[in-house]
Amino acid sequence: MEAQLKRELETSMLKATGHSGAGCISEGQSYDTDNGRVFVKINHKSEAKRMFVGEMASLEAILQTNTVKVPKPVKVIDLDRGGAVFVMEHVDMRSLSKLSAQLGEHLADLHLHNQKQREKQSKEEQTVGKGSEVPVIDKFGFHVPTCCGYLPQNNDWQDDWVAFYAQQKLGQQLGMVENSYGDREARELWSHLQLKIPQLFADVTVVPALLHGDLWGGNVAECSDGPIIFDPATFYGHSEFEMGIAGMFGGFNKSFYTGYHGKIPKTPGFEKRQQLYELFHYLNHWNHFGGGYRGSSLRIMKDLVK
Ligand SMILES: Nc1ncnc2c1ncn2[C@@H]1O[C@H](COP(=O)(O)OP(=O)(O)O)[C@@H](O)[C@H]1O
Ligand SMILES: [Mg+2]
Repeated sequence: MEAQLKRELETSMLKATGHSGAGCISEGQSYDTDNGRVFVKINHKSEAKRMFVGEMASLEAILQTNTVKVPKPVKVIDLDRGGAVFVMEHVDMRSLSKLSAQLGEHLADLHLHNQKQREKQSKEEQTVGKGSEVPVIDKFGFHVPTCCGYLPQNNDWQDDWVAFYAQQKLGQQLGMVENSYGDREARELWSHLQLKIPQLFADVTVVPALLHGDLWGGNVAECSDGPIIFDPATFYGHSEFEMGIAGMFGGFNKSFYTGYHGKIPKTPGFEKRQQLYELFHYLNHWNHFGGGYRGSSLRIMKDLVK
């Protein structure tokens, strides 16, 4: 792999630094090259390339907003012997502690970015009489599939958030549950829950927001110039979706939420929708890691259909 990496990165030097970082899905290692230090994620699964292409597109999109720090992506490389690697800027990181509030604020800035672009565009249209050059997104989805874990999410663009979330996020996960386990209880609960979802959105207007998409405590850190997030599974969706997994596995303290909600206050019905957004991740974990997540998935569905 190292010979191929040298060739693809056009570097004569390729020296392992000894820094490694294993996540839940891939292995990572840092190297010094002619062009600086890079962090290389390696995955030998056949779906690795698609997963890394989604991660690279996610980082590029977040980077463009200039709101929250992410590692700069460099390249996705297909390995000659199967699998793929993803090369990005190496960043010295430590656990998130003092910068929690700042992370909450930066994340809110990320979520508000598209809305601000939309407002800017409509002002320009009124004053100059022509459209802005800035890309403004008015749909839900993303231009490539992104993977929360290694399973690809259907990011096909759709106008309506409730339909997008019900069909493409929950529906896709429940389809996988059906294929793998044929779980009758899940199937029945889903047929009831589908009908209830629109009621949970009766009082909210959802503006497409660029999301990290997999924001649990293991995908955030702090570095010398502020908080940083990595390993995204980006798409344009409801900002509250981000708060689903953030709340499930811990890792975020009160000041993170104070920072975040100072810029994006909670709206009525938040807690119920948070459960609905957690459901996606429980189902996704069930599909990745097996039946240990069945109980939590069914419990949330039962709670929501009450
Ligand atoms: N750009 C980077 N520079 C240095 N270390 C990194 C970088 N990105 C990730 N890491 C380290 O690798 C670990 C796993 O990374 P992550 O991208 O979350 O992998 P996975 O997709 O397997 O979950 C992180 O917790 C962190 O310690
Ligand atoms: Mg990770």
